[in-house]
Amino acid sequence: MAEPSLSFRRHLIANAVVLAPAVIVLTGMMVAGWLSVEHGLIAMAAIGLCTAVIVRRYLHSFVRFSGYVEALARGDEPDVPRFVVSPAAEELATSVSALDGMWRRQREAIAGLEVSAQTIVDGLPDPLFAVDRRRRLVRWNRAASGLTGTLAAERDLSATLRHPALLDAVDAALEAQVPSDAGPDTGVVELSLGGPPERIFSAHVKRLPRATADGSLALIVLHDISALRRAERMRADFVANASHELRTPLAGLVGFVETLRGPARDDPQARERFLAIMAEQTDRMRRLVEDLLSLSRIEQREHVMPTALVDVGGVLRGVRDLIDMKARQRGVTIAFDIPDDLPPVIGDADELTMVFQNLADNAVKYTGAGSVVDVVARPSGEPATALEVSVTDQGEGIAPQHVERLTERFYRVDTARSREMGGTGLGLALVKHALNRHRGRLDVVSELGRGSTFTVSLPIAPAR
Ligand SMILES: Nc1ncnc2c1ncn2[C@@H]1O[C@H](COP(=O)(O)OP(=O)(O)OP(=O)(O)O)[C@@H](O)[C@H]1O
Ligand SMILES: [Mg+2]
Repeated sequence: MAEPSLSFRRHLIANAVVLAPAVIVLTGMMVAGWLSVEHGLIAMAAIGLCTAVIVRRYLHSFVRFSGYVEALARGDEPDVPRFVVSPAAEELATSVSALDGMWRRQREAIAGLEVSAQTIVDGLPDPLFAVDRRRRLVRWNRAASGLTGTLAAERDLSATLRHPALLDAVDAALEAQVPSDAGPDTGVVELSLGGPPERIFSAHVKRLPRATADGSLALIVLHDISALRRAERMRADFVANASHELRTPLAGLVGFVETLRGPARDDPQARERFLAIMAEQTDRMRRLVEDLLSLSRIEQREHVMPTALVDVGGVLRGVRDLIDMKARQRGVTIAFDIPDDLPPVIGDADELTMVFQNLADNAVKYTGAGSVVDVVARPSGEPATALEVSVTDQGEGIAPQHVERLTERFYRVDTARSREMGGTGLGLALVKHALNRHRGRLDVVSELGRGSTFTVSLPIAPAR
């Protein structure tokens, strides 16, 4: 630590103060005649010399002490100075050092709390913003900056979330007289952000009981409800679609029953023809109901992984027997390439049969007579981690905008044509849910006019 310098004036004053009693006493003695002037002056000079040395050392101790305190105040970490001639200064310095240690620990604890608060806020999955009484951003978490991009403190919230209803709710919260410390949220607003894909959030606005140290007075938490809304929409669409699919054959049946009871009552030929159509319609309704039931069953079990070991080769050979006849009727050749030593997968044999039967059935249905459908099974990865089964047809192909929607329930590229072929439009939805359950995947590659390849990959069972 650099030794601070002492002014001459300071020395002079300090010496004068310390010398004053001796000078007064000696002068008194000289005036009273108890001491000769000569001896008195010599004594004064001697005392002055001694005190000058002592005062100088003391003064230096205090200057060093104040230098030490100043260094602490600047935030430096100086060593505690030693004061040989001044035990009082030494004690003071030790106490100040202890006080400084305590302050440092407190400062560290406060900084630690600040970091933990931000870490906790950052750990929240929902975007969170805090604004001050003038609606300026004070704090936000990582999810918030992930949603809105770079954020700047002290800017009005409207620069980040330009949603009038939300801003109104925040204003209302900031103006509210009664703090909503225990009560419900001041406001919940639904807003849609970004896109595509569009994301829907429910924004909860809450006023704090009082402004926090950083000035935050209201919190805005956004909760992503896109999945919920999508599920609601899907459920509504699903019910509408299912009803619609059932209504058409049902209306047909009602019509034929009426015709049979009325105009065609005594026409055996018409009766036979109508009964055949009615049987076909009833069969379509039965298939639809069966597919709906399968879908609901698979969905219920979707989160429960199957446990059995399944030989996919065996499953595919079973599918070949099921589909062969239909393929032959349509003039389509199905070529299976199934190696004998395929590794087993963990799965449900019935569901996997349904998956491959649907894919093979589609390939046969949507390809022209005389063409070939290839079903190839192969392990994939090095070392092999998955089993891939691809079903390739030489049919009409599927346009890209349809490819991503194929696994939606009732989604059909050409509804009339699919219906005419007896399809319910649920096949690929069933495939998707069954594969989800198997932690498997479905990839579709298709080119219009050339054909499509549907590839299923299933994780290989770990060696026992
Ligand atoms: N290999 C394919 N080539 C061309 N289009 C296909 C192919 N596979 C499926 N599609 C299209 O995808 C739609 C949905 O297929 P999905 O299997 O879900 O229903 P579906 O075959 O019509 O009825 P279901 O399978 O219930 O009998 C089909 O209607 C068809 O338009
Ligand atoms: Mg199908």
